[in-house]
Order: sequence, then structure tokens, then C-alpha cells
Amino acid sequence: MKSRINIAIDGYSSCGKSTLAKELAAELRYIYVDTGAMYRAVTLFAVNNNCFKEDTLDKQTLLQQLSAISIAFKNNADNKPEVHLNGQNAEEEIREMCVSQKVSSVAAVKEVRRLLVAQQQKMGEQKGVVMDGRDIGTVVFPRAELKIFMTASHEVRTRRRYEELVNQGKTVTRNEVSENLKHRDHLDTTRKEDPLRQAEDAVVLDNSNLTRSEQLKIALRWAAEKINANNKQ
Ligand code: DC
Repeated sequence: MKSRINIAIDGYSSCGKSTLAKELAAELRYIYVDTGAMYRAVTLFAVNNNCFKEDTLDKQTLLQQLSAISIAFKNNADNKPEVHLNGQNAEEEIREMCVSQKVSSVAAVKEVRRLLVAQQQKMGEQKGVVMDGRDIGTVVFPRAELKIFMTASHEVRTRRRYEELVNQGKTVTRNEVSENLKHRDHLDTTRKEDPLRQAEDAVVLDNSNLTRSEQLKIALRWAAEKINANNKQ
């Protein structure tokens, strides 16, 4: 019986982390956890519960309601995990631009991070998890057997995200997408609590010039090496 490992995937916004994480999880028959969806779900809750005054987060109002937030992943008819907020499927709404524009301020709140990190750590207790986010290799699973830090050029990331949103029927401009990515990268890397950074033992995957299948092949090779090493222990 092959032993299972945890795989942590971190990186900037729209680097294709979730695409790789989903494909890796499917190949290895592991569970995929999209931690960004959890921060987005808390943000959606905050938007719907008067925690934003204009575009500014009213932290106290959010903190008073934190215990009323319940987040779960449920598989849809195609066996794809979707995030549910307080029992309601929120998978589509959490991807709206208004959530994307506010999520970094919610993700910077220490109490929100502590709550979600504890849930994420629980999901990985049995191993066999592929988790993507910003602090997975550094904070959530500092002892993950495989840590991948993904990166791609800003132009490539803007194009991919713009095309994704347009394909979903969203009305956005390329410039809006580009500015949102820059803004989020800045906030995610400079925030005080668990900023995005590469773990010392992470391997870097720059996919600016890689196809999906090429990046999957590379990551599967890395995973196989770690699983083999784990089996020998
Ligand atoms: O991966 P994403 O774009 O859906 O993530 C949404 C936001 O959540 C992103 O701007 C940073 C934040 N985030 C985080 O701070 N820590 C994580 N583990 C995952 C996401």
C-alpha cells in the first residue's frame, strides 16, 4: 500500500494553482482543497452582512459574526467540490469581481486566518490532500512532503484570468483584471499575517510557457519522488 502525502501549492493570484491542484488530486485520487474559496466565502458573508462600509472592511462587525460562519465543501453532480456558505452553494458568487476586490482585506484579518487555517489543518490530518493557497507550505502544512510554489508572468496571468471570466459571461476589461491582480499580489505579499512567500523547501514551477499537461507531468514526477521517498521511510 503506497503511503499518502500532503501537497501544498502556493503562488500569486491566477497562476493556475487550482488547475494544477485539481488535476494532481484527480491523478493521485487525493482530495483537493481550494483555500482561496474559503477566504472568498468569508468575504461574501461579510458583504452580505454589512461588514463593509463602502469598500472598507469594518473588522469589528465581521469579528462579532465570525462564529456564525460555516464553510463546507460538497461535491456536485460532476464530482467537483463546491464551496457552501452556511448551507448554501456559493461557488459562483464567490468568484464575482466584487468579492475578488474585497477578499484581500478579509484575508488579512488574523482571526479569520486562525479560524480557516485550523479547518484546513484538520482536512490534512489523514494525508492525501492537495491544497492550494498562499500560506499552505509556510503555515498550514509546514511539514508537507511536497511544496510547489507557482509563478507566471503578469501578462500571462492577466490573459488567463480575463479569458476565464469572459468565458463565464462576466463583463470585465483586461485592465480591470490586470489591476486587480496587481493589487491582490501587493496586499497578499505585504500583509502582516501569513504573507505569501515561498517556503524554503518549495520547488518553483514557472508555467508562463508550459501547457497544462506539461505542468501536470512535472508535478506528477515530483509527487512520485516524494511518495517513493515516503514509502522507504
Ligand atoms: O486563490 P484565490 O485568488 O481564490 O484567493 C482569494 C484571496 O484569498 C487571495 O487574494 C488571497 C487570499 N488567500 C489567502 O490569503 N490565503 C490562502 N491560503 C488562500 C487565499
